[in-house]
Amino acid sequence: MGKIDPSEITPEHVYLNRRQLIKGMGALAAASFLAACSGDRERGASPLSSATPATGPAATPDPLEDTLTPYDDVTGFVNFYEFSLSKTEAAELAEDFRTSPWEVEVGGLVHSPRTFTLEEILAYQQQERIYRMRCVEGWSMVIPWTGFPLSRLLEAVDPTSEARFVRFETLYDPEQMPGQKTSVLDWPYVEGLRLDEAMHDLTILATGLYGKQLPPQNGAPVRLVAPWKYGFKSLKSIVKIDLTADMPVSTWVTAAPSRYGFYANVNPNLSPPIASQPTERVIGTGRQRETELFNGYGEAVAHLYAGMDLEQNF
Ligand code: MTE
Repeated sequence: MGKIDPSEITPEHVYLNRRQLIKGMGALAAASFLAACSGDRERGASPLSSATPATGPAATPDPLEDTLTPYDDVTGFVNFYEFSLSKTEAAELAEDFRTSPWEVEVGGLVHSPRTFTLEEILAYQQQERIYRMRCVEGWSMVIPWTGFPLSRLLEAVDPTSEARFVRFETLYDPEQMPGQKTSVLDWPYVEGLRLDEAMHDLTILATGLYGKQLPPQNGAPVRLVAPWKYGFKSLKSIVKIDLTADMPVSTWVTAAPSRYGFYANVNPNLSPPIASQPTERVIGTGRQRETELFNGYGEAVAHLYAGMDLEQNF
């Protein structure tokens, strides 16, 4: 589950139709922006929760074969609030973002804290991983990432027996990231995983997509990808990783605790106001598909949550 044959290339006529859909979504992003500026944090978070399809053919849920989302859509329709709440503007503003030199400081409850240079990160054997990504805004993509298991990096710093969680931080640099001059979120962007989630083989640090270097707007030079969780867990442009005993407080939990939980596992069965929807719009196709528990990766990850109430731990 979750693996897509790279030979499933999107035909050009389908691709061109997708471009029309994406253009329409620019207006949707602008509407979301206004909601985010309303000053109400819970409602202000709505770009991550309430988007409904604005354009495209009438959407009837049906099983949809996974095909790769076209490169232009993956790189042109992004969420990177450090730059802008508008998906297309964020992609433009991130263009000149300096992603080299870069360092990732890894510490906390570890025996061998270490600062990795970008070159050291890229020296880990990179693999292609084709994953679905489901955003809580109700859309999804299928992205061919290049990266390596986060577990490799964590093993190198040797977590102590007290370590139970991993806390991640995105770069804080308001001079380069104009969105950080606003208070739409608490900066820097913080996310977290339980240590066993972080060590799971599906969890990667991505350094590229479509066989190319990761574009700045997609979180260059290194970002997290945990495909069974909502996209907001997969934070971009990571500079700091800490092993902790306590559950980290993540940015979205701070912004809207009733809506976003620490686990953020994709789950179509939760009731409002928790962020979840039974279906998702597949970017570029104009179609809806049913959202699957754990984004379809249940076979690989459900055991991590055995005995846990997913309503309580959303
Ligand atoms: N990481 C940071 N630092 N800032 C962000 O605004 N947006 C998140 C996540 N990582 C975000 C982030 C959200 S909401 C999603 S859906 C994904 O990135 C989107 O990844 P993409 O833009 O590469 O598709």
